[in-house]
Amino acid sequence: MSALLSLENVSAGYVAEIDILRGVNIEIAEGAITGLIGLNGAGKSTIMKTICGFLAPSAGKIRFDGEDITGIPAHRVIDRRISYIPQESSLFNYMSVENNLMLPLEHLARKKIGLTTDDLDARLQNCFDKFPLLRERRNAKAGDLSGGQQKMLEFAKAYLQRPRLCLIDEPSIGLAPKVAEEVYQWINLFAAEKMAILLVDHNVRRVVKMSSYIYVLSLGEITAKGKPEDFAGDLHEQVKAWLGINF
Ligand SMILES: Nc1ncnc2c1ncn2[C@@H]1O[C@H](COP(=O)(O)OP(=O)(O)OP(=O)(O)O)[C@@H](O)[C@H]1O
Ligand SMILES: [Mg+2]
Repeated sequence: MSALLSLENVSAGYVAEIDILRGVNIEIAEGAITGLIGLNGAGKSTIMKTICGFLAPSAGKIRFDGEDITGIPAHRVIDRRISYIPQESSLFNYMSVENNLMLPLEHLARKKIGLTTDDLDARLQNCFDKFPLLRERRNAKAGDLSGGQQKMLEFAKAYLQRPRLCLIDEPSIGLAPKVAEEVYQWINLFAAEKMAILLVDHNVRRVVKMSSYIYVLSLGEITAKGKPEDFAGDLHEQVKAWLGINF
């Protein structure tokens, strides 16, 4: 099966002539979790920002669903049903939980992507069924939620857009272990609904376990790739070191 999204020899950076990513090749399969692991500063978030259209590649191609989307602006990328749950917050802290959810829904309805205005409430109620705590706190300001609840709102916001591809960057960072477990359950919920996922998380073991294919990024270059079993048996030297396993 051909990939839903592919990066072909993509180089990109934040300033002219300094590439952070160098000749990156990645394929993300339809309806599966693809893992991306690497040390701090390797360029994992930069890959996500490049896919989302926040950074334009200086070289290479990005293809989504057979179409060349290289260099198209971020608001057009969203219209192709690519969602991004960033490492930092994307919520409007002074708006209610419900209004944070309504914003993307109304955008989809206006653009007639996937739903009509009549479907808005049904989509919102379905989202509340999946994340009941948000129904209880629908009138609370997003900024007044706990860290775990804010992360839930981020996932709910992505979920109700029914993305074909969801980019999830460090979702469990800063959360208590119990809450982090919930986060991994939401990711499995997304995967069960056949969304393709690109997952970055500092819990390397978890990423390897959850993904059907894994890429290792080091200083802006892909240095290893494989299926979970490739990393479980004869581990790549670098990954071994990150996992703290003695040779
Ligand atoms: N807005 C920016 N402007 C300039 N350089 C940046 C910017 N954001 C990131 N960088 C640089 O790009 C490189 C890759 O950063 P990136 O955030 O993609 O790494 P990462 O793998 O996501 O790291 P982490 O695990 O810490 O989140 C780093 O050297 C970083 O300093
Ligand atoms: Mg990052």
